[in-house]
Amino acid sequence: MSQLLNIAIDKATAPGVPAVSAQGSAPAYFSCRNIHSYYGESYVVQGVSFDIREGEIVALLGRNGAGKTSTLRSIARLDDPQMKHGEIWLDHKPLHRMAAWQAARNGVGLVPEDRRIIPSLTVEENLQLAQIEEPVGWSIERLYEAFPRLGERRQQEAVTMSGGEQQMLAIARALARDVKLLLLDEPYEGLAPVIVHEIERILEDIKKLGMTTIIVEQNAIAALHLADRALILDMGQIVFDGTAQEVIDNAELRQQYLAI
Ligand SMILES: Nc1ncnc2c1ncn2[C@@H]1O[C@H](COP(=O)(O)OP(=O)(O)O)[C@@H](O)[C@H]1O
Ligand SMILES: [Mg+2]
Repeated sequence: MSQLLNIAIDKATAPGVPAVSAQGSAPAYFSCRNIHSYYGESYVVQGVSFDIREGEIVALLGRNGAGKTSTLRSIARLDDPQMKHGEIWLDHKPLHRMAAWQAARNGVGLVPEDRRIIPSLTVEENLQLAQIEEPVGWSIERLYEAFPRLGERRQQEAVTMSGGEQQMLAIARALARDVKLLLLDEPYEGLAPVIVHEIERILEDIKKLGMTTIIVEQNAIAALHLADRALILDMGQIVFDGTAQEVIDNAELRQQYLAI
């Protein structure tokens, strides 16, 4: 795994060239460079830039309405909000030039807030459907090893499962594809604390495997314990980029932007 320095984006870098490390050698594994996105006239992502090293887990935090989901949706290249300016690079590939299906094929795995599993299909059918197209990620057997509860319920219709089990299925579906960047939008939302702990354990395991991840969470403390780094968004702009520990230690910062 490459250990690249996380540095501020060099504005002098020529367009179309990924951000480079302080040594001027390798590009960042993932890089968002000055992205601006709109829902119609409504300007919601206002010049967001950050880099992520391979294998790093970044918590993207901020109050309700700060622009977290919109940032993830911009990275996943969904149509709404529309990204009108900026560059997004993942493993040397220009995501900003891709449609959502191409970004997915190039390794972006978005687990949206609404989980988007297919309720009338069984667990196994949901996973098989995720693998209908190349490039395929983890095998279904490997997914059942990582998520034993899903293995036990493989023939069960997804609609009959608990919220926590559905969240596991949503994450498993992302891993069933060949994911290079996992985007988790509020994975703990609406789940009982005991289930949150179970999902946390799964995410710890995924972290050990070195999966590069962005986690958006209202439950900032839980996200900070998992994450290496933290970004705080406020009104569509990054107002903090540092280590997760710095946020845990800085009560003023937490109060100002996270209300915790
Ligand atoms: N579909 C939409 N159409 C118009 N505005 C939206 C839509 N979704 C979100 N917004 C607005 O965009 C801003 C950022 O929202 P969002 O990215 O969902 O924030 P967060 O995920 O941080 O709570 C908010 O002002 C929100 O009201
Ligand atoms: Mg959101």
